[in-house]
Amino acid sequence: MSTEVEAQIDQSLATLRAAFSPRFEAAAGAGGEPALREENAKILGKKGELTAILKQMGTVPGDARKRIGEKVNLLKQEVEARFEALIKTLAASKRDAELNALPFDLTLPGRAPTPRGHRHPVSSVREEVLDIFASLGFAVHDGPEIELKENNFTRLGFPPDHPATDMQDTFWTTSGTLLRTHTSNVQVRAMMSQKPPMAFVAPGAVYRRDDDVTHSPMFHQIEGFVVDEKVTFAELKGTLAEFAERLYGPGTPIRMRPSYFPFVEPGAEVDIGCVFCIQPSGTRRGCSVCKRTGWIEILGCGMIHPVVFEHCGIDPERYTGFAFGMGVERVAMLRYGIPDIRLLFENDPRFLSQF
Ligand code: DAH
Repeated sequence: MSTEVEAQIDQSLATLRAAFSPRFEAAAGAGGEPALREENAKILGKKGELTAILKQMGTVPGDARKRIGEKVNLLKQEVEARFEALIKTLAASKRDAELNALPFDLTLPGRAPTPRGHRHPVSSVREEVLDIFASLGFAVHDGPEIELKENNFTRLGFPPDHPATDMQDTFWTTSGTLLRTHTSNVQVRAMMSQKPPMAFVAPGAVYRRDDDVTHSPMFHQIEGFVVDEKVTFAELKGTLAEFAERLYGPGTPIRMRPSYFPFVEPGAEVDIGCVFCIQPSGTRRGCSVCKRTGWIEILGCGMIHPVVFEHCGIDPERYTGFAFGMGVERVAMLRYGIPDIRLLFENDPRFLSQF
């Protein structure tokens, strides 16, 4: 009796062993993961076929029961392993299908990186000028672009309604302040807030009602000033001569022409020997940039006026000082032969990429 049952169970196990794998594949193929899980439950579930076989074992005696138990367990493991493997295969092909359905092609080569940016010519000129003065012992001083008229004009010796005030054609705000017309306001602020000795350069944006090929309503200046006991005009000239050679090359000459600014006495404009028409012999032929003179104006300067010292609380009997101011765009235009200042503000990459 027991051998009969055992043979019967053996038979059932053999049938199931032959069938489970094709059944799983058919289910997965037809209904995917849900169908596969359902098929798995039909075999291994509480009411599954293998579970039913397991239950029959109760009727076989100990000896045979052990043998059958081992066989059942073995088959159970095979079924489980096959089920897990198929689940993995299904997940993998599901992912493949998703990737293939993406609206872009992952196999396309990457896009070439866009060209690297670089410093704007106005920025590089500013850095270069500041570096030169830093190496000569000047520190950098900041100042505001929105300023009181006292700091922009009055304390610098511009009398109210002075033609120079008018000449500079100022942008006034509604609250009675103005957009600074030059960086000379930083001289006032530095001298009012600290004691000599001092040597500063002050870069920044300035504003004037001006707009043509060489003038822009916003441009940049660099101011420089030194205040101490016994500062001389010779030191001013020596400083600017050194600056010219460092910026424009060894041997670049400067000349000073008397000029008027309300905040300096004496005042001067400084020219450098034209860098465009210099000949191998060192002479200058004259060209359109220097207007046939062989000289190009680069900055204004002078000895700080005693009245400015008084207005800023510095003793003019004890201290002297020099000051100068230059336009950064102007230096850049001369350096690179740029004919129109507006090119420097339009930021057209076709223009900027040339520097
Ligand atoms: N502030 C003058 C301008 O805007 C430039 C200048 C001239 C600055 C003479 C100075 C100076 O410090 O001494 O045109």
